[in-house]
Amino acid sequence: MAIRNKFKNILGSIGNTPLMRLDFAVKPTILAKLEMLNPGGSLKDRTALHMIEVAERTGQLKPGGTIVEASSGSQGISLAMIGKVKGYRVIIVVPDRTAPEKVAVLRAYGAEVYMCPNTDSHDDPRNYHTFTENLARSIPGAFMPNQYFNKENPRAHYLSTGPEIWEQTEGKITHFICAAGSCGVISGAGRYLKDQNPAVKVIGVDAATSLYSSPNDPKAYMVEGIGIDVISDTFDATAFDVIVPIQDGDAFAMTKRLAMEHGYLVGLSSGAVMHVALQQAKTMTEDDVMVVMFGDSGRNYLSKVFADEVKNVKSVEAALEHGVVRMPAEAK
Ligand SMILES: Cc1ncc(COP(=O)(O)O)c(C=O)c1O
Repeated sequence: MAIRNKFKNILGSIGNTPLMRLDFAVKPTILAKLEMLNPGGSLKDRTALHMIEVAERTGQLKPGGTIVEASSGSQGISLAMIGKVKGYRVIIVVPDRTAPEKVAVLRAYGAEVYMCPNTDSHDDPRNYHTFTENLARSIPGAFMPNQYFNKENPRAHYLSTGPEIWEQTEGKITHFICAAGSCGVISGAGRYLKDQNPAVKVIGVDAATSLYSSPNDPKAYMVEGIGIDVISDTFDATAFDVIVPIQDGDAFAMTKRLAMEHGYLVGLSSGAVMHVALQQAKTMTEDDVMVVMFGDSGRNYLSKVFADEVKNVKSVEAALEHGVVRMPAEAK
């Protein structure tokens, strides 16, 4: 076999992410699924690849076609990376709360990007979902993966994330905690784990002010990747035990702690998940094995989560002036 045939291209590095231990002073074993190690930087590589390949097989996406998607970033980044590798035009529509780093990454992969203002009504043509649907309708041959309504989104996790976690933990997992946005992870991986062992507890983490968690008074929130604002076919209410709401501040604080104390530079959804994991750990035993989803990297949020730290770089002049650093002659 020619040596080139022994190697896969970049798309072959999607999935099979490691499961690593977290050393917090709690009774259960906590293992993190490191989804930021996917080549596009998040768990959305799995769903993007699967949705694109199903669309190719069913003829919804033809050679030279266009992919159009509404995404607060991660799904868009994965679609951009995979779509461009496969030779498609990719257009991503993002809400204006999207971190600038994510927009830059989309552009770096060669996607066209539209940014929508925060609007309350789906009737507003500038509304993020409305605009995307109308845009897709306006481009001949456009394929909109529509992760919020596409059953292949949870299916991707049923076929890959769930089985990986089950095998990596040798079936010993007792709790699975993940963020819930489009609900692909919780419905797909959650369902798979419960199908193997119905006793596995599946816990979702939602933004406290999402439509699901605050139906009477939904409000904008800062966390990204999280927030159930659309209940659709990708939401499987039998796949989980509970959805826990989280405040922005708690997600930010834990995201910083994970980087500064544990070496995991992860995104806000991971901080949110970890916050809930530690709450849940209080009632668990040493026999419990909890898997938490670390969905993407903190590098996507440096200006948002670590804005204060970035500003606070020490001055060389001040260090010299205040004798923090002594010259070799003085040190003798
Ligand atoms: C970065 C990121 N985005 C999104 C999600 C939510 O996934 P889904 O849209 O499938 O609900 C998660 C879940 O852990 C995540 O970590």
